Amino acid sequence: MTSIKTFEDYKQVYRYSVEQPEAFWSEVATQFVWKKKWDQVLEWNFHKPEVKWFIGGSLNITENCIDRHLPHRASQTALLWEANDPNEPSRRITYQELHDEVCKVANMLKMHGVKKGDRVCIYMPMVPEAAYAILGCARIGAVHSVVFAGFSAGSLSDRINDSNCKAVLTCDGSFRGDKKIDLKGIVDEALKKTPSVEKVIVLERTRGPVTMTEGRDFWWHTEMTKVNAICDAEPMDSEDLLFILYTSGSTGKPKGMVHTCGGYMVHIGYTFQTIFQYREKELYWCTADVGWVTGHSYIVYGPLMNGATSLMFEGIPSWPDMGRFWQVIEKHKVNIFYTAPTAIRSLQNAPLSFVERHDLSSLRLLGSVGEPINEEAWHWYHANIGKDRCDIVDTWWQTETGGFMISPIANVTPMKPAFASFPVPGVQPAVMDEHGHEIEGNGIEGRLTIKFPWPSMARTIYGDHGRFRDTYFSTFSGKYFTGDGCKRDPDGYYRITGRVDDIIIVSGHNLGTAEIESAIDEHHDVVESAVVGFPHDIKGQGVYAFVICYKKPENEDKLRGEIRDTVSKIIGAIAKPDKIQFVSGLPKTRSGKIMRRILRKVAEGDTTNLGDTTTLLDPGVVDEIKNGAL
Ligand code: WTA
Repeated sequence: MTSIKTFEDYKQVYRYSVEQPEAFWSEVATQFVWKKKWDQVLEWNFHKPEVKWFIGGSLNITENCIDRHLPHRASQTALLWEANDPNEPSRRITYQELHDEVCKVANMLKMHGVKKGDRVCIYMPMVPEAAYAILGCARIGAVHSVVFAGFSAGSLSDRINDSNCKAVLTCDGSFRGDKKIDLKGIVDEALKKTPSVEKVIVLERTRGPVTMTEGRDFWWHTEMTKVNAICDAEPMDSEDLLFILYTSGSTGKPKGMVHTCGGYMVHIGYTFQTIFQYREKELYWCTADVGWVTGHSYIVYGPLMNGATSLMFEGIPSWPDMGRFWQVIEKHKVNIFYTAPTAIRSLQNAPLSFVERHDLSSLRLLGSVGEPINEEAWHWYHANIGKDRCDIVDTWWQTETGGFMISPIANVTPMKPAFASFPVPGVQPAVMDEHGHEIEGNGIEGRLTIKFPWPSMARTIYGDHGRFRDTYFSTFSGKYFTGDGCKRDPDGYYRITGRVDDIIIVSGHNLGTAEIESAIDEHHDVVESAVVGFPHDIKGQGVYAFVICYKKPENEDKLRGEIRDTVSKIIGAIAKPDKIQFVSGLPKTRSGKIMRRILRKVAEGDTTNLGDTTTLLDPGVVDEIKNGAL
């Protein structure tokens, strides 16, 4: 009893999944190909914390993504690739071709000394080869660590060093709208500080000039001619590492979330099918980047495990014009379209004619992910893209959770605009008050925790289990703390209200305020800074920086430009502050802690009620900050 077709089914399956979680998940798990069945479903302790699923089981996720489909869908398209430039032909990769390419990549990695357990960094744009790279690692049991190809050289080398990657897979460059990005140049810069990297394999994409380091750098296309397309899938223990994926934390250092093979496979495969109610032959398009968890779980692994056709798009929504998404939907007759609120809001601002000139009648379902979707964007999306016919699945989840946690089920859950609605079967949320007590009943608001393990949860932070415990399992004893706030309305629907910690979500990208502050502080004129989020029409949240300089800046705008460049260079363009206010001091308590609550209020433009400021070391600084607000 795991399949859901009606809302009554959902209620029944959900109840079963909570009353008998092990029976429920083992029923789900039997729908996958295992090399050896598990001996025990679950072992857990949220205090340590330790979680193991499908103990003793052995599998390889790529057999579930590829091999199992070959007898009946070898010639079906697995990946449909649409280039950045609408004039470049699209590419269709069948399941058979995917098999061959993945095995070749796997053999190429082996040829270059990569073995089971080694970490491989993938720094690639949205090309099919990025999916081959991910699956090629999984095929031989190498641990992939994909780094979003918009990160700077510094961010890349930090991530490579944190997990001691042995090899890097990258491209000469990438296309983004009318821009060309010199990825190999960024890799070369990053690799000046990464002693662990022995080999770099470079895919040709933009054909720009690159420097190849003899003995270290190799061309993808030459290496691939040296290997064949036969590579047995490495047997992996359920709890062997599948991948590491970095996400921002409250301190400056990014957290390498560790995902393991068995539980991840089961949760992602099941939730893709259940939430989207994917039907045979449908074309599914998730617009995320492979560099984020959404790309891992719901462009690559989830769709492929279900024998779906997954569209991969290299470009951006606004180029050559603001109708690009809608044109791609029309061109390929997309049935399921899954995107982010920030994209919806930016396209909503363009004239409606960009939508109206395209035939969107192929769409059956819409999805949203990455941040809370505001009601206005929800209604615009529903009316203008879904033509009031398509459900919207507003999927709440995290890099840490691996897969969907709270979401409507397509054509099953009665929708409420801007509500992520109900927990996925097997997921047990608990809403907590500030004293650490669970709030029962409906019509309530608090902090969102999960009180029972689910298969695709991250097992640790790579190399720092203490930080894993402190970040997620110590705020509320015995529970996983998500860092999000939520409401549960009188009908029991969940609505996620956003982060309650020092993470801000800018255009769907998680950024730690501490990480941005330390980048700003690198500028030689800066003494100290404090960063908070503020509501931004398109990005959801923008970055507001309060900056103290050694001396009063002579040219504030010039300095702002330099600070933005510094942040862009150290982290990446996504983290550039939108607003920079120069101040002579920050509101600090007597113990030296910055009262961010006050800065948040100022950034939000609400300076009338700043709450109690009497505990501040120097209450006078608040007036100055208020008066100088941007
Ligand atoms: C936010 C992305 C509201 C949330 C999959 C979460 C959402 C963080 C939603 C994780 C949603 C994601 N509604 N908020 N549907 N989806 N979030 O790790 O704050 O990049 O904690 O994973 O994004 O972001 P991450």
